[in-house]
Amino acid sequence: MSASGRVAGLVPAAGAGLRLGGGIPKAWRPLAGRPMVAYAVDVLAAVCDVVVVATPPGYEADGAVNVLGGATRAASVRAMLAALPPDVAYVLVHDAARPYAPISLASRVLAALRSGERAVVPVLPVVDTVKLVDAASYVLETPDRAMLRAVQTPQGFERALLDEAHASAADATDDAGLVEALGVRVLTVAGDELAGKITTPADLVAASGLR
Ligand code: CTP
Ligand code: MG
Repeated sequence: MSASGRVAGLVPAAGAGLRLGGGIPKAWRPLAGRPMVAYAVDVLAAVCDVVVVATPPGYEADGAVNVLGGATRAASVRAMLAALPPDVAYVLVHDAARPYAPISLASRVLAALRSGERAVVPVLPVVDTVKLVDAASYVLETPDRAMLRAVQTPQGFERALLDEAHASAADATDDAGLVEALGVRVLTVAGDELAGKITTPADLVAASGLR
């Protein structure tokens, strides 16, 4: 893989935002006067040669190639991969729902790709103890917290590898999970506290004032 290959930024933004509510797709909810998706586009545009957004029907993102998203996040990523020019060597996939992720985070992920890694995800240590539970709500196991990480975006991949990972019609909320299923090693790099995902109204309240 060439260290100078062209880079595409993909923004899955076609979700309905049902948990956030508000009657419009989450990525088009205004934050400080701009649709949430605009922040993800800006961050990727700072480090990528082309930015593609997967949109819900009837919505458009400025400053990016727009493609119609699919019924799942994975289907939306597949629609964007299908729209990429052939000379793209690296892909960064970044949720529209993480509007405060800094450019430095995207740069860190891309630098690891350019240094030869095939798949790179930003992570943070997990602060809460995490339990594995069964269907009846009984604890099965307590994984060692020191080995757990919470995963963020942008996640970075060799373009050919992500194409292969998405070749099946599998659904996944996490692109790296599809790459892991191929048996390919995924490198973790430091995430950023600002890159948290906005999922519920409480997340929006917690995030107000960040930008
Ligand atoms: N996404 C997408 N296409 C889908 C579903 C989700 O592009 N069919 C995108 C969302 O727009 C979001 C990202 O994937 O940027 C992460 O998904 P999530 O946080 O679950 O957002 P929504 O699916 O919009 O929210 P909800 O699950 O609450 O409806
Ligand atoms: Mg969703």
